[in-house]
Amino acid sequence: MIMEPKDIDFYSLGFNFIETKIMFVSNYKDGKWDEGKLIPFGNFEISPAACILNYGQGIFEGMKALRTKNGEITLFRPELNAQRFNDSADRMLMPNYNPDKFIDAIKQVVKANEEYIPPYDSGGALYIRPIMIGNGPIVGVKPAMEYKVIMFVTPVGPYFPEGFQGIDLEITKKYTRSAPGGTGAAKTCCNYAGSMLPVKETKERGYAQVIFLDAVHMEYIDEVGTANFFAVINGTLVTPELSGTILPGITRKSILELATNKLGMRIEERDISYKELFEDTCSESFCAGTAAVITPIKSVVIEDKKRIFSEGKPGELTRKLYELLTGIQRLDIEDTFKWMVRV
Ligand SMILES: Cc1ncc(COP(=O)(O)O)c(C=O)c1O
Repeated sequence: MIMEPKDIDFYSLGFNFIETKIMFVSNYKDGKWDEGKLIPFGNFEISPAACILNYGQGIFEGMKALRTKNGEITLFRPELNAQRFNDSADRMLMPNYNPDKFIDAIKQVVKANEEYIPPYDSGGALYIRPIMIGNGPIVGVKPAMEYKVIMFVTPVGPYFPEGFQGIDLEITKKYTRSAPGGTGAAKTCCNYAGSMLPVKETKERGYAQVIFLDAVHMEYIDEVGTANFFAVINGTLVTPELSGTILPGITRKSILELATNKLGMRIEERDISYKELFEDTCSESFCAGTAAVITPIKSVVIEDKKRIFSEGKPGELTRKLYELLTGIQRLDIEDTFKWMVRV
């Protein structure tokens, strides 16, 4: 049911779906995309034989529109989402969507739902969800002939209710998220469906999320549920390299650029053994993504071993990176990288 913006308490939003008014839809048939248009948010018909329903041929993106102090609306590096959308499409044998049209459609749908953008001082955002599905009917395992792009939006608050206080994570040796040669680097629905059971189990044990290890050695950190992993080890900012099993996060890329260019930090993209997190040389740890922004990791647990970072408080470098990133995103700090796009 649609909620009127006046009935929404933008100051106590979680990360839950709230229906908004308008969505963007474009259809692909006979080898080409139509112009696409804005329509009221709502259900649509789909064949029971659709490829997405039977074989999971679907991809998505996650972005945010933010309200700045002076009332402007901004998007963070949307060209990188447009690019990753097509990279995911390539992996799932789906058609590409023109990046300029992608950004234009995002702007249209944000503008059309402008009243749902949480105010600057609420810390919330309008979460934007572009999806592409193979909706043409098929029976054998092969790509659909018809596709649909949909972009909808919903107002959100923090992904982790703990916020910047930090979260407790569990490293799993029971499940993996992706394997070499698999689909881990694509933002495809199937990767997320497979993570629901591990996340449910870890939450039942009291942890906010799970840290997945690499599928070959069960030793090197891949990522944190829906965010990329970072640690400060011997004063260097380290993060797992893009080996094909983790999502190439746009926040991840931006943090590496901020750490080098604004904080003069050394950075390393490399294999990180989970054992390194239990050494004194590892002083801070956090995870990062569009939804998680930068969330400090308070502690990690594996089997009966626990490590608490910086006495359970957010680390100093984690805080500096958070202030830089969110400052640029809200235009409180000069956007020297020209990352922000006005709607
Ligand atoms: C599995 C996974 N890793 C990392 C990220 C972070 O990517 P980004 O910074 O582009 O949001 C996401 C998305 O939020 C994700 O779903």
